[in-house]
Amino acid sequence: MTTWWQSGTIYQVYPRSFQDSDGDGVGDLKGIAARLDHLVALGVDAVWLSPIFPSPMADFGYDVADYCDVDPRFGTLADFDALLAAAHDRGLKLLLDFVPNHSSDQHPWFVESRSSRTNPKRDWYIWRDARPDGSPPNNWISDFGGSAWQWEEATGQYYYHAFLKEQPDLNWRNPDVRQAMMDVLRFWLDRGVDGFRIDVLWHMIKHADFPDNPANPAYAPAMGEMHRVLQHHSTDQPEVHGIAAEMRGIADGYAGDRVLIGEIYLPVERLMDYYGLGAPGVHLPFNFQLIDAAWDARSLATMIAEYEAALPAGGWPNWVLGNHDRPRIATRVGEAQARVAAVLLLTLRGTPTIYYGDEIGMTDGAIPANRAVDPRELREPGLGLGRDPVRTPMPWNASAHAGFSTAEPWLPMGEDWPTRNVAAQAADAASMLALNRDLLALRRKHAALAVGNFVLIATVGDVLAYERRLGDERIVVALNLGTSEQQVALPTGEVMLSSVVGPASIGTLRANEAIILRVTG
Ligand code: NOJ
Ligand code: MG
Repeated sequence: MTTWWQSGTIYQVYPRSFQDSDGDGVGDLKGIAARLDHLVALGVDAVWLSPIFPSPMADFGYDVADYCDVDPRFGTLADFDALLAAAHDRGLKLLLDFVPNHSSDQHPWFVESRSSRTNPKRDWYIWRDARPDGSPPNNWISDFGGSAWQWEEATGQYYYHAFLKEQPDLNWRNPDVRQAMMDVLRFWLDRGVDGFRIDVLWHMIKHADFPDNPANPAYAPAMGEMHRVLQHHSTDQPEVHGIAAEMRGIADGYAGDRVLIGEIYLPVERLMDYYGLGAPGVHLPFNFQLIDAAWDARSLATMIAEYEAALPAGGWPNWVLGNHDRPRIATRVGEAQARVAAVLLLTLRGTPTIYYGDEIGMTDGAIPANRAVDPRELREPGLGLGRDPVRTPMPWNASAHAGFSTAEPWLPMGEDWPTRNVAAQAADAASMLALNRDLLALRRKHAALAVGNFVLIATVGDVLAYERRLGDERIVVALNLGTSEQQVALPTGEVMLSSVVGPASIGTLRANEAIILRVTG
């Protein structure tokens, strides 16, 4: 028996950029509700919303000031309930983004914590004395550059923030913090959400003694300052697995297969621990390897084989091509290979997550310096680390502001929106949208594609080929990762889909062609 989160496909919505309903240029919950039919037509099974909670928006919602409410820019709790009901009516699951590692500095807990050294909430965050010379307690660096320690004059101590100083890290070694945050999970699960994506899960517990992190021998300034040191002591500590197990226990206590997906950027062998050590961990530790992969047949084959081999018994795989933090796939590999990538994502064994807009081949937007708003860009400008380009509004049609809003959007539209939009592609059988719809329809129809076994067949030249098998059903996928025609020996069968327009043939893959073949012989 497989569950919905194994056979299904997840779609990530960045709420600010999906659909604005009230003319403020910022997407909102009513807007998302109005666009659910796009997701039904696409054929996905679940929607994950990046944070919608009240927030000063220093990090666009990843700085939460109240874990149990909705930011007025996005709507109200009633709007959320309506969205959830509308999703469920359409057979769509809805996942929220849980941000447990840090809160906003405006969260009442932190306001109390910083008010005095004796406040009962002092220990809910991570406060340390300065070193004798007044410098920070250790050399840890914020992921957004600069020391991860912020001096607080009023109470004469530093507090720790792995991200912005407006995002103080909670102290997960404090049982009251743990209790309060587990109650947050219950609050939303009771309301009916189908699960959570958990922000920076591997950051949640730090080494108890806060030793210096080792220098990174590979550091170059272009990488961003965070890479000056290796995060050996600030992340991926053994105690984090106890927290994940506790969250899992809560989720599994609810009916309906609620799912927990952990955001974890770690090498594969460490990532696998997040399926659980001893006790079950999260259901799906996000597998971001396709985001960093070298885009050639051999590298992909090796990476896929190693990931499959590393999975623990019962561990269900998952695959991701992009998200709100990383360059879009169409920008990384180009338009033609983005189609090949879509076939790969939706035919590998494991739960796929599609980033909004990738289904129409959106590329990274060009953001003029005076429109940059991402703190990652503003703090270390010009290195290409900023995330605004991957967060541009969804282009729905060719009307003003692409049908996204009646006002100037918070970020500029990608340049090609007049032609690259949902309405135009819905009317074009050769479009990226049509390809994605076809792929998702095939996954629904053929259980071998959704949940079948995976066997790597071969890499020949630029071709990567594998088989998905369930019972008697055998489906072969062959991808040409290159720009020249490739000959490849494949079993006899019927081509069910090609990423390239025009008749496909089994022995010869055209440039940038991916085919899906039902084996008959
Ligand atoms: C990971 C999120 O994906 C990213 O957008 C955010 O800035 C950091 N966590 C901090 O919450
Ligand atoms: Mg709005």
